[in-house]
Amino acid sequence: MKLVIATRNAHKLEEIQAIFDFTNLEVLSAFDFPEIPDVIEDGETLEENAAKKATEIAAATGCWTLADDSGLEVDALDGAPGVYSARYAGEHGSYADNNVKLLRELADKEDRSARFRTVIALSDPEGNVKLVSGECVGVIIEEGRGANGFGYDPLFVPNGYSETFAELSSEVKNRISHRANALRKAHEAWSELLC
Ligand code: IMP
Repeated sequence: MKLVIATRNAHKLEEIQAIFDFTNLEVLSAFDFPEIPDVIEDGETLEENAAKKATEIAAATGCWTLADDSGLEVDALDGAPGVYSARYAGEHGSYADNNVKLLRELADKEDRSARFRTVIALSDPEGNVKLVSGECVGVIIEEGRGANGFGYDPLFVPNGYSETFAELSSEVKNRISHRANALRKAHEAWSELLC
């Protein structure tokens, strides 16, 4: 069986392949289908976007497809930026712009609790889709710290740690992250389909 991983992000591919042991599958990625356009991520939830990516790429390739969508959900902001995490400060905003906006929105809030969440979708070529999600709970600090990682990492301290995601090594982050937790759940739930 062939499985397509619906990403053009080499780092995500590595992370997925490190958790799954795809011995009996031929694993392809969006890099193998340059003719297929990027899926427009216009869903209102992480679940909708992950399912849309998986089903559209599965239909276009005729292969089982795995896709993910992640975001940062801040309690005092009713779950924002959530599905809009990548474009919180606007379509062309940078990671730094997003972080500035997040700190501004939280300036008068006492509750700084937040979670990163990842939803992973698996679709067959007919569009039958299954979902799992994983999270990493923590707090948003008042000033960014650290140079590793990307996105909101300098502002997020996971529970049980005193360092931000951007101060922790990638080894530690990749063990405790929302993506790692979601991938482990996907592995548990779908190991008979994907091995
Ligand atoms: P994606 O679905 O993995 O592309 O993530 C969407 C957006 O969520 C990213 O552009 C980041 O703003 C944010 N995000 C997702 N995962 C992380 C993370 O591990 N650290 C920091 N920001 C993240």
